[in-house]
Amino acid sequence: MLPQEIIRKKRDGAALDPAEIDAFIAGLTQGRVTEGQAAAFAMAVFFRGMDVTETVALTRAMTASGERLDWADLDLPGPTLDKHSTGGVGDNVSLMLAPMVAACGGFVPMISGRGLGHTGGTLDKLDSIPGYRSQPDAATFRRVVREAGCAIIGQTAGLAPADKRLYAIRDVTATVESIPLITASILSKKLAAGLDGLVMDVKTGSGAFMPTLQRARDLARSIAAVATRAGLPTVALITDMNEPLASAAGNAVETRNAIDFLTGARRDPRLLEVTLALAAEMLVVGRLAPDVATARVRLTRALDAGAAAERFQRMVAALGGPADLIARPEKHLPAAPVQRAVAPSRPGLVTAIDARAVGLAVVALGGGRTRVEDAIDPSVGFVDLAGLGDRVGPERPLAIVHAADSAAAEKAAGALAAACRIGEALPPRGAPVAERFAPEEAG
Ligand code: URA
Repeated sequence: MLPQEIIRKKRDGAALDPAEIDAFIAGLTQGRVTEGQAAAFAMAVFFRGMDVTETVALTRAMTASGERLDWADLDLPGPTLDKHSTGGVGDNVSLMLAPMVAACGGFVPMISGRGLGHTGGTLDKLDSIPGYRSQPDAATFRRVVREAGCAIIGQTAGLAPADKRLYAIRDVTATVESIPLITASILSKKLAAGLDGLVMDVKTGSGAFMPTLQRARDLARSIAAVATRAGLPTVALITDMNEPLASAAGNAVETRNAIDFLTGARRDPRLLEVTLALAAEMLVVGRLAPDVATARVRLTRALDAGAAAERFQRMVAALGGPADLIARPEKHLPAAPVQRAVAPSRPGLVTAIDARAVGLAVVALGGGRTRVEDAIDPSVGFVDLAGLGDRVGPERPLAIVHAADSAAAEKAAGALAAACRIGEALPPRGAPVAERFAPEEAG
């Protein structure tokens, strides 16, 4: 089967057979398909789309391109579950959700990414913990999942190598924003991780990767449908990203925010709502709870009793981090030398936030990357961020900026002030969880 014939068929708008998709992806993995052919294939899919059957076949073929983790021999007394987010600003949900689910009987082998564009990455947040090994060997990863119930680590080269190659080509050929390609890309890695269930957090709003609610819906529906047909029970939630989710944005500051959440020192209400909603779906998908209401009660109990905090501490220590991180975060997490209040452009209510601009301000502070190979400064970012509807003025700044020097602090303060619209009318605030797509509704 010649690659160009497969490309031509898709270019002309026909549906590809699973055998054609398998052949193309095998060629891509083995280097027989050229970069030009892969780019043409991606562009043909971008314009012509793929139906669910084709997307399932593409997902399966990319999963089969590499190793597949197998947890069966560990005899874990619970299901392996994961959550994946399309990315946001102040989105440190994974840091609390994984230990919460672990404390309720799930096992969470979470393979996360680094920051991308304006969005933060779970891995960068964890790398702010001194000693934390986010790229452990396979035996350590398995041991930590068994003993702590959760392990959050970085992508390994062996999982879905076809996606790795295709994604790099899509990235430079304007073909990232294709629902079937995104669906297969995300799900091939999740299927290769050997999960029993997945919950997908599709963000919508000013800081989201999907620009409109309709696109978020299309992606959520596609992921729930394709995952379930590919044998991975999945529920997708659409959650609000019209403002940073946590009151912190940055790496060490979001890790600190997560620790405060776990210990109960501070729980930002919208963050709590989204975390509980996603974690509850995980317990139900994994059959650890009969319904989300029961799941929420159990998760809240695990949080309040300190069981989730204890799981987080166990994971951190088992992966090389400090044994007293939860008890003494200030001793271990890096602190920026300059910390100052950010004044709003004028006193009033925060009526709109360009969350993407807030994320970009963190990147400009050095907390994110403009090139993959860039090193990041884990200490910088914002804390005590005002949310939509908060009254700001001389008594209540927009945030405290943490920066490497005064000039960077000044620039970030200007960027944050410009990202926040101030007025007097209370803004309509979207529900933290907007919509839910379960397999039976996903079609
Ligand atoms: N994240 C992925 O892993 N793949 C995509 O295609 C888009 C986002």
